[in-house]
Amino acid sequence: MAVAHLTMKMLMQKNIFFFVTLFLLLINPTLSLPLCTNSNAPVTPKAPLAFCNYTGSSCCDSTDDSNIKKQFESLNVSQPACASSLKIILCSRCDPFSAELFTIKTVARQVPVLCNSTASSRSNFCETVWDTCQNVSITNSPFSPLLQGQAPTPANSSSKLTDIWQSKADFCSIIGGSSVNDSVCFDGEKASVNMTTNSTKSAPTSMCLEKVANGSYLDMVAHTDGSNRVFFSNQKGQIWLATIPEVGSGRGLDIDESNPFLDLTDQVHFDIQFGLMSIALHPNFAQNGRFFASFNCDKTQTPSCAGRCACNSDVNCDPSKLVSDTAAQPCQYQTVVAEYTANRTSSSRASVIPTASPVEVRRIFTMGLPFTSHHAGQILFGPNDGYLYFMMGDGGAGDPYNFAQNKKSLLGKIMRFDVDNIPSESEISRLGLWGNYSIPRDNPYTDDKDLQPEIWALGLLNPWRCSFDAERPSYFMCGDVGQNDYEEVNIITKNGNYGWRVYEGTTLYTPESSTGGNTSSSSINPIFPVMGYKHSDVNKNEGSASITGGFFYRSTTDPCLSGSYLYGDLYAHNMWAGVETPENSGNFTTSNITFGCAKDSPIACDVVPGSDLPALGYLFSYGEDNNKDVYLLSSSGVYRIVPPSRCGYTCAYESRTAGSTPVPTSPSGSSANMLKGSCKSLLLLLLLFIGLGI
Ligand SMILES: *[C@@H]1O[C@H](CO)[C@@H](O)[C@H](O)[C@H]1NC(C)=O
Ligand SMILES: *[C@@H]1O[C@H](CO)[C@@H](O)[C@H](O)[C@H]1NC(C)=O
Ligand SMILES: *[C@@H]1O[C@H](CO)[C@@H](O)[C@H](O)[C@H]1NC(C)=O
Ligand SMILES: *[C@@H]1O[C@H](CO)[C@@H](O)[C@H](O)[C@H]1NC(C)=O
Ligand SMILES: *[C@@H]1O[C@H](CO)[C@@H](O)[C@H](O)[C@H]1NC(C)=O
Ligand SMILES: *[C@@H]1O[C@H](CO)[C@@H](O)[C@H](O)[C@H]1NC(C)=O
Ligand SMILES: *[C@@H]1O[C@H](CO)[C@@H](O)[C@H](O)[C@H]1NC(C)=O
Ligand SMILES: *[C@@H]1O[C@H](CO)[C@@H](O)[C@H](O)[C@H]1NC(C)=O
Ligand SMILES: *[C@@H]1O[C@H](CO)[C@@H](O)[C@H](O)[C@H]1NC(C)=O
Ligand SMILES: *[C@@H]1O[C@H](CO)[C@@H](O)[C@H](O)[C@H]1NC(C)=O
Ligand SMILES: *[C@@H]1O[C@H](CO)[C@@H](O)[C@H](O)[C@H]1NC(C)=O
Ligand SMILES: *[C@@H]1O[C@H](CO)[C@@H](O)[C@H](O)[C@H]1NC(C)=O
Repeated sequence: MAVAHLTMKMLMQKNIFFFVTLFLLLINPTLSLPLCTNSNAPVTPKAPLAFCNYTGSSCCDSTDDSNIKKQFESLNVSQPACASSLKIILCSRCDPFSAELFTIKTVARQVPVLCNSTASSRSNFCETVWDTCQNVSITNSPFSPLLQGQAPTPANSSSKLTDIWQSKADFCSIIGGSSVNDSVCFDGEKASVNMTTNSTKSAPTSMCLEKVANGSYLDMVAHTDGSNRVFFSNQKGQIWLATIPEVGSGRGLDIDESNPFLDLTDQVHFDIQFGLMSIALHPNFAQNGRFFASFNCDKTQTPSCAGRCACNSDVNCDPSKLVSDTAAQPCQYQTVVAEYTANRTSSSRASVIPTASPVEVRRIFTMGLPFTSHHAGQILFGPNDGYLYFMMGDGGAGDPYNFAQNKKSLLGKIMRFDVDNIPSESEISRLGLWGNYSIPRDNPYTDDKDLQPEIWALGLLNPWRCSFDAERPSYFMCGDVGQNDYEEVNIITKNGNYGWRVYEGTTLYTPESSTGGNTSSSSINPIFPVMGYKHSDVNKNEGSASITGGFFYRSTTDPCLSGSYLYGDLYAHNMWAGVETPENSGNFTTSNITFGCAKDSPIACDVVPGSDLPALGYLFSYGEDNNKDVYLLSSSGVYRIVPPSRCGYTCAYESRTAGSTPVPTSPSGSSANMLKGSCKSLLLLLLLFIGLGI
């Protein structure tokens, strides 16, 4: 508003056109995660830039760098002090924070926000630029862009800053800004985020859980109506609508397992590694009833459930030569995203528990899987863009065909679909789509023609559980399962290449089999994980490690966990909290956290024999409700994170009154072995994530 107001005022005064809205970007203006103006993450260029002085990670490659050099030369400024200022201003496009520097209130700029905060110790760079350049004639001046819709200034015309602004104050009020409140400005040096934001807070050390249900679920999503209702799904193919009790109420989850919201068991192929992997609600679910499920099916059992094989001639894979890791036929098993409707029919008005029609409305996506493991399958709607993100693993077996790096393959990728605009049948076949969706206009294939249009990010092994930070949607976090040594947490960005199978973690990886060739490390700019753990770091008594990605904890229930990213290992003996220091820097420090079960847990927790740890069994997923409380979904039940004092942990920020209402202690009396009873199904589930395919 301020910008527009001043612009109009000066337009009247100086009677010339300048500045403002060039494009409206999809960038969230309040974030400071290192990000480039094109929404890609900064990467380290293979060779140092020749013109711009940016070492390490940068938003420029050599082409951008030479374009900036050309732009600089076209300014035709010989006055040395001004030329030097202009060069570093143009080069700030390479800054890892360029999205932030070049964007104010969603308006993209030609020049970055120049620091003019005299309060801070930072130099008043805006003043420097004015002082050195005010009388210098600049050709094609980046300071004189146009109001949108106006005729462009003639090419090669020159202007001075004093032609555009009356004074330094005018200039700096538009071009300047200060580095406060999570926003950054450009002071002539590489941008950095404010270091003072809550750096005194110490890393969390513990987490208190209460058990709210006995059931074993694979996914949980909050109702879009903001209520205390959530959907749970199990691997077999059933979905329930449940009501979450208040923290401290002493009550468990209100879920009626005999009355599913939707039962897809007839369509779902449920086996060791297969099943209903994920559910998602359309952002307007409360109005339109659109409900999505991602599951596996077996085309030999359900002939209608057959899509194109992911092993095909486009990706140099011959399905007839495909050696399956089981007795399965090539591409016998499919990964599917399907849409259902929860529209209430008038006749079911009396029903207390709402249900959805199991009749599919639309098949969004179908793809045949080459092997039996690593097919992720999570679906999530982007909170900013409303598009459907679909996580897909490399297909397993150590990725012999190098699918994760193959831009023509959808394996080892995160995809992004527009499910609100469904193209016609002929359009779908013309575009060679894998189902009924359209491609968002800014998917990265527009920058890289080699990419399949569905692809949002590549180089993943098995992205097992991703989430968008509820406070900062640009933090799209994914746990990515490792092969031999390292489990990763990645921040997913547009067109990001997360390195697999050139790298596992930050280490070069040597594949056991490479039928489909290899990608050289010099040909990619990988984005390395921001957190993770080595297999050797974890207690592996039950088997090898496999990450389960979690959430940024945004609830106030445990103020000591607040702001940290939670993740754990499938074997549920090890969990971590990642703290970003400084905030918005992308620089995380992780600590392992102990966890316990509240003495007054609504359902008493079993304990791991010979320890104090609650027997979670296998940690499949995390969930988040509309209060931002976080849940652990494991093979032994559903656990909610509650105030630390309920486990006897101390947290300096916890208020003694809030959330710690005394609840009568229930008799603990259970120390059952976690393998008791359902040993077989646990062992089956155990195999779900561990690249059994070899
Ligand atoms: C490049 O940047 C570094 C660090 O900001 C600085 O020390 C160095 O003098 C710069 N070099 C040139 C040629 O500007
Ligand atoms: C660059 O500026 C000089 C004066 O400083 C002028 O003589 C010359 O024509 C300009 N060149 C272009 C290409 O505008
Ligand atoms: C620019 O011009 C103004 C007014 O003509 C003058 O006061 C000022 O010293 C000049 N600045 C430079 C750096 O030449
Ligand atoms: C602007 O200047 C450049 C460099 O001198 C020249 O190549 C180009 O043709 C000019 N453009 C116009 C429209 O005059
Ligand atoms: C930048 O400086 C000008 C003049 O000193 C001031 O009016 C303006 O409010 C400042 N802008 C910001 C964002 O601090
Ligand atoms: C960092 O943020 C704090 C609090 O918002 C502010 O007081 C301080 O001046 C900022 N520091 C810099 C270097 O901008
Ligand atoms: C920074 O945040 C504080 C508190 O939220 C607010 O009072 C202040 O106005 C903000 N400053 C700027 C420059 O936005
Ligand atoms: C730092 O964190 C604590 C605990 O979450 C919170 O109470 C406090 O307001 C935070 N301070 C700032 C400056 O964000
Ligand atoms: C959960 O299981 C325990 C024992 O396995 C049983 O005592 C309890 O009633 C169950 N609770 C619910 C809510 O199903
Ligand atoms: C569900 O209801 C919405 C709103 O009334 C309507 O637009 C939509 O077409 C319905 N969907 C189905 C599958 O009937
Ligand atoms: C990253 O975090 C660590 C631990 O808090 C800190 O020592 C280091 O300075 C940070 N690095 C950057 C680049 O901010
Ligand atoms: C967790 O961290 C503590 C303290 O750094 C360390 O002593 C312990 O060995 C760690 N445990 C695991 C399983 O990594």
